[in-house]
Amino acid sequence: MIELIDISYVRLGTPDLGLAEDFATRVLGLQVGERGGKSVYLRSDQRAHTLCYYEGDPREQTVAFEVRDAAALDAAAGVLESIGHPVHRGTASECAARKVRAFIGFKDPTGNSVELVARPEMSGKRYYGMRDAGITGFNHVGLNSIDPVRDEKFWTTVCNARVSDRIGDIALMRVNAIHHTLALAPAKGPGIQHVNHQVESNDDVMRSFYHLTEQHVPIVFGPGRHPTSGARFLYFRGPNGMVFEYSVGVDEIQDEAAHRPRQFGFEPTSLCMWGSKSNFVPM
Ligand SMILES: [Fe+2]
Repeated sequence: MIELIDISYVRLGTPDLGLAEDFATRVLGLQVGERGGKSVYLRSDQRAHTLCYYEGDPREQTVAFEVRDAAALDAAAGVLESIGHPVHRGTASECAARKVRAFIGFKDPTGNSVELVARPEMSGKRYYGMRDAGITGFNHVGLNSIDPVRDEKFWTTVCNARVSDRIGDIALMRVNAIHHTLALAPAKGPGIQHVNHQVESNDDVMRSFYHLTEQHVPIVFGPGRHPTSGARFLYFRGPNGMVFEYSVGVDEIQDEAAHRPRQFGFEPTSLCMWGSKSNFVPM
């Protein structure tokens, strides 16, 4: 079984790097860690980067998870190849471009680009946002799935993901104590459905709601509260249609043995207990 420890970063292609950097810094509130090689590396916490925009096709969307070490990475490659998932082993320059010591790339059953990384770079410099959004770190993604039941099986049997809750057949899965690191999202094809950053307080969610509204950033869901994780949230649209989320107060599951996934109905109140309606989740 492939032991995922944490989510590591997201890589997004974009035809307009300047526009993407402007959004990521001025709107989202991330910090430029480094520019170069037609890429911009953005920071949200103690890591050297958690989001990379690079010049490319915006349909290129990759999420990376950390594994324990190089041996775990080799073992993961073996597991994936044995079940018919071709694996790409990162070259030295590809590793440098991801600020990791080693990585492999593969496609999940839906066709999402996934990377497993060993020894991602941390930074000794404190992260500070380019606007006061209250970001405390990169936290999770929503990942498209054309068959959520099949994909849940992949993430929970080939990898170590555990289901925290389900909305209909849609699994919210954890790889550590955090309620979910990976949320499957019903879709017609591969892609990242949303990118979440945690913020410090409810006040940050509400401050961003008013600030982003004033800046004419399309708000697509919220402010609201998920009955599953308990998080207060706000979703909004960035470059190339990508949806970003701020949230605060995601539950942690400390007792692995005792936790039982709860079943929520496939209905809007399972996504927001306050009554906010999503105009991007196909529900
Ligand atoms: Fe989320």
